[in-house]
Amino acid sequence: MPEDIKEKLSELGREALEILEKADTVAEIENLRIKYLGKKGLVTGFMRQMGSVSAEERPAVGQVANRVKTDLASAIKSKLEALSDAEEAKTSLDVTLPGRRHRRGHRHPITRTLNEMCDIFIRMGFDIAEGPEVESDYYNFEALNFPKDHPARDMQDTLYINDNVVLRTHTSPMQIRTMEKKKPPVWVVIPGKTYRRDSDVSHTPMFHQVEGLVVDKGITFGDLKGVLTVFVHQFFSPDTPLRFRPSFFPFTEPSAEVDIGCVICHGSGCRTCGYKGWLEILGSGMVDPEVFKFVDYDPQEVSGFAFGVGIERVAMLKYGIDDLRLFFDNDLRFLKQF
Ligand code: PHE
Repeated sequence: MPEDIKEKLSELGREALEILEKADTVAEIENLRIKYLGKKGLVTGFMRQMGSVSAEERPAVGQVANRVKTDLASAIKSKLEALSDAEEAKTSLDVTLPGRRHRRGHRHPITRTLNEMCDIFIRMGFDIAEGPEVESDYYNFEALNFPKDHPARDMQDTLYINDNVVLRTHTSPMQIRTMEKKKPPVWVVIPGKTYRRDSDVSHTPMFHQVEGLVVDKGITFGDLKGVLTVFVHQFFSPDTPLRFRPSFFPFTEPSAEVDIGCVICHGSGCRTCGYKGWLEILGSGMVDPEVFKFVDYDPQEVSGFAFGVGIERVAMLKYGIDDLRLFFDNDLRFLKQF
């Protein structure tokens, strides 16, 4: 009889371990524990039968029962630990996984061009200034010596806020604002947004300019040529040819537009340059003495030059962009290239 009980106990123990082997959830293992080791469990049930075992056999049976109990209890414990380790591994950091990529932003080509241009002028000793985009008629036109009936004042080109307030049509009003504030010598460049009532494939209602103004004793057209030549050679390339073509602006006299040798065909003629071999990039000239009168500068004492460069235009030429609209679409595939 005791042999029988011992045998059955061991059998029960083996059976429980076998089931435990296959269990793979905490719930299954808990059920198993209750079934065998719980208060009403199978192993516990056998222990209750100890009463029917003779006194001298009892220790031996008790030993077997205890061994089955502790073996099973410790197997359950380690299985639960292994399970919780695996569970943790699933939810915690796996350093072998590839990282999540942080995408880098890109400066807009206009901003880039603007910065590059300003850097060139800073190296030549210019200061940088900025001014209002909503501008009075006085600064945008009158103080720049635009006669009242000048066509540039016509509603066709200018976006009016009211009779006396406009969206600046160029950065030149900053010439006046700068000279009002400061006595010569003046060496300043002013980048910024400008607005015109114009919209087609090569014109947008908003575009950018960089204005330049130099006023000092004895400034000549030679200085204008020198500064703009250095600019073109540094911004495009040292062998880019440039030419000064007579022009007219109400606030400069004499005036000149600057052309550079076509960066696409290098002068032989192509669609971009209209088969001329030259591309216009800026307007310039010697500050008209009439303008100095508005800011209390003495034209007998000082002279100066000014220029205005269209940023979209030079950006297109430098980076080989053939459609102005690309600057304003904000297509990341386009912007990523810069
Ligand atoms: N403001 C002129 C324009 O927008 C350019 C310019 C600037 C010309 C300075 C001469 C001097 O066309």
